[in-house]
Amino acid sequence: MPDQSAGNGLNLQQALERLDEPTVLYRQGEHAVYWLGVPEDTSFRSNIYLIRDGDHGLLVDPGSRHLFDQVYRRVTQIMPPQSLAGMILCHQDPDVAASMGQWLAVNPAMKVLTTPRTQVLLPHYDPPPYDYYDVEANPEYLLPSGRSLRFIPAPFLHFPGAFTTYDAGARLLFSGDIWAAIDLNWQLVVDSFADHIPALDLFHTEYMASNLAARGFARRLQGLPIDAILPQHGSIIGPTMVPEALEYLQNLRCGTDIIYAGLSER
Ligand SMILES: [Fe+2]
Ligand SMILES: [Fe+2]
Repeated sequence: MPDQSAGNGLNLQQALERLDEPTVLYRQGEHAVYWLGVPEDTSFRSNIYLIRDGDHGLLVDPGSRHLFDQVYRRVTQIMPPQSLAGMILCHQDPDVAASMGQWLAVNPAMKVLTTPRTQVLLPHYDPPPYDYYDVEANPEYLLPSGRSLRFIPAPFLHFPGAFTTYDAGARLLFSGDIWAAIDLNWQLVVDSFADHIPALDLFHTEYMASNLAARGFARRLQGLPIDAILPQHGSIIGPTMVPEALEYLQNLRCGTDIIYAGLSER
């Protein structure tokens, strides 16, 4: 088993054992990151996370409508759901955002943190009026503890307006569909990156736009200390495997690289 702790509050070792209740992935002082769900019996599981900074709670990609009751119960074990401050929606897909109306019914004051391209599509879920936070206009989100979140665009991975969220203090990257995996032999934390590649390929070759999009995003991450990658599907990638994960993205052939492989550039 590779070292899954970064010595700064991250503890993925513990995360391996507690799958049926909120799982603490990181804790330091008032700041904690939880994995909320959900061990569905499908190869296409959705990971839902909660960032808690004191009394300030943000859901990361709250997920599908049918998961709402379970996710709600798990939030209750951590903090009053009525007190949640917001939800981060990395794009508008139903596995990310369909439960937004249910959460806004719990607390109409919850902010919705997303990109303008996502924001124009969210009305199709028929949510009640809500407070929209534009992550492109305001890429730095200050938390009560003085820590901050940074929103990093990830165009065409896979949605034009997709973005990722970097927890600067915890050095965690909530990567949305990037590094998502499809796998029946699922586990919460990757223990061999080489063995994980086929599950990553199943998702990325079909969903992601192109090698150029993947490399462009990898370049945006240059110089950023990342201790773990927390994708919206599949398994968490721990500190020792982050360099391999970045290399995977650099070398990825996907989307138009494959579909139009025979078409030469003009
Ligand atoms: Fe998606
Ligand atoms: Fe997804």
